[in-house]
Amino acid sequence: MNNTFYVTTPIYYVNDKPHIGHAYTTILADVLARYHRSAEQDVFFLTGLDEHGQKVQQAAEKRGLSPQQHCDDLAPRFLELWERLNVQYDDFIRTTQERHVKMVQKVLQEVHAAGDIYEAEYAGWYSVAEERFITEIEMRSGQFRDVKQINEKNYFFRMGKYQQTLIDYIEKHPEYIQPAHRRNEILGFLRQPLGDLCISRPKARMNWGIELPFDRDYVTYVWFDALINYITVPGYGIDEKSFRKWWPASLHLIGKDILTTHAVYWSTMLFSLKLPLPKTIFAHGWWLTGENKMSKSLGNIVNPLDLIEKFGVDSVRYYLMREMILGQDANFTMESFAKRYNSDLANDFGNLLNRVSGLIGKYFSGKIPEPKEYRAEEKAIQAQAEKMVGSINEHIQALRVNEAIESTLQLIRVVNKYLEQQAPWKVAKSDLPTAGTILYTATEALRISTVHLFAVMPQKTRDVLKILGCEDLNLKWGLLKPGTQLPSHEALFPRIEDET
Ligand code: ME8
Ligand code: MG
Repeated sequence: MNNTFYVTTPIYYVNDKPHIGHAYTTILADVLARYHRSAEQDVFFLTGLDEHGQKVQQAAEKRGLSPQQHCDDLAPRFLELWERLNVQYDDFIRTTQERHVKMVQKVLQEVHAAGDIYEAEYAGWYSVAEERFITEIEMRSGQFRDVKQINEKNYFFRMGKYQQTLIDYIEKHPEYIQPAHRRNEILGFLRQPLGDLCISRPKARMNWGIELPFDRDYVTYVWFDALINYITVPGYGIDEKSFRKWWPASLHLIGKDILTTHAVYWSTMLFSLKLPLPKTIFAHGWWLTGENKMSKSLGNIVNPLDLIEKFGVDSVRYYLMREMILGQDANFTMESFAKRYNSDLANDFGNLLNRVSGLIGKYFSGKIPEPKEYRAEEKAIQAQAEKMVGSINEHIQALRVNEAIESTLQLIRVVNKYLEQQAPWKVAKSDLPTAGTILYTATEALRISTVHLFAVMPQKTRDVLKILGCEDLNLKWGLLKPGTQLPSHEALFPRIEDET
């Protein structure tokens, strides 16, 4: 069995600082990577930056910098943010790095040698904003900004040749493009004849890119360059052992804005290279503000650093993971942030810790009590905690991160209710051993829930496990050690009082 998990994020354009949309996909990849690592899989998590192309060149020009200076200046912003967000990636690629430039040129040579690249005169419409040639129909739709007529010689990739191969592949592999409605969208798109892809830009018009190895007057189209990053890092044709280990990737995580480039361009490029396709391309929805996508060009973005500053890293990670149903859009508002934080983190999770540590402090001088015989009530809690392991695993495999979180929170709520019903503070007056059993059970269920939340909130969960004196990320029931002295601690998630 293949025990590796290779997950990627898009490589983001360095035209500006990262925003919450970029943070979202990267945190999602981090959370999945952490879950898979804790299932003892061999994980490789790749993220990085897309530094070539017109958008980056224009952004640099605006600042009066060379494109490379501009990229070197902005790249650390991304790295700093990933650091602040506790994102544990294994490699960070920048497309201006030599390893990538060489790889793109190698791929171009191979695709050329395979007879899949040809030269042709092109006259038609070009969308500067989208950085691609558009059809007459697209032109007339009025949906494209910055459109101009262009007439020039270029190089084309025989993408159309692979149309039927791609359709057959997608039909035979329902897991390839997810969620299912996106897969249907791509199959719909492929019912139209698939044209060839222009993969060059004359330097005379745009020179910020990787030079074509077979024509020095041209640079490579930014998408043909960028997608290759996924095989640059595992070392296609360079490091056979590593490449065999990691390719095909398990999961390309992307937003729905870049589905066509991945599902169609990338797949056909891989067909031409005779390489296996990644196991899954998953396109998630957008974070919206009201009706609109959050985006740099619309200027309605939320700076993740401000949020972290105010509410802490883990609450930001939690909100993003809990609030978006993977595959659908979600609305980002401060109201929903505060609501989610207060109900799940302050009231449910934080409160359970406060309760058990307060009661253990009061009735057992702060030492975790020894459990005596379990009654039906304790057995039910233990059974639910044990059952959760399997269901969380299933949710993660199926990329239902919000549900994996929700089932953990459900256990926490059940335990809070169990405490209310069992009222160990009353029981303690007449039957201290039973009060101890109740508190042990509640604390152990808290510990296990905390371990489940580790991938989402690596920092806060570690704080809790430290308080409980059991830092192992082990899900087996009964690992909490009676007699452990609980230290005094602050509230885990102080309530947000002003929700606006
Ligand atoms: O497209 N909601 O880079 P990019 C959710 N360089 N996710 C969002 C988002 C939002 N409002 N805004 C951005 C590119 N994203 C190319 C990719 S890959 C070989 C090349 C996330 O900077 C989401 O993952 O425009 C989206 O697909 C990506 O950022 C686009 O980043
Ligand atoms: Mg974009």
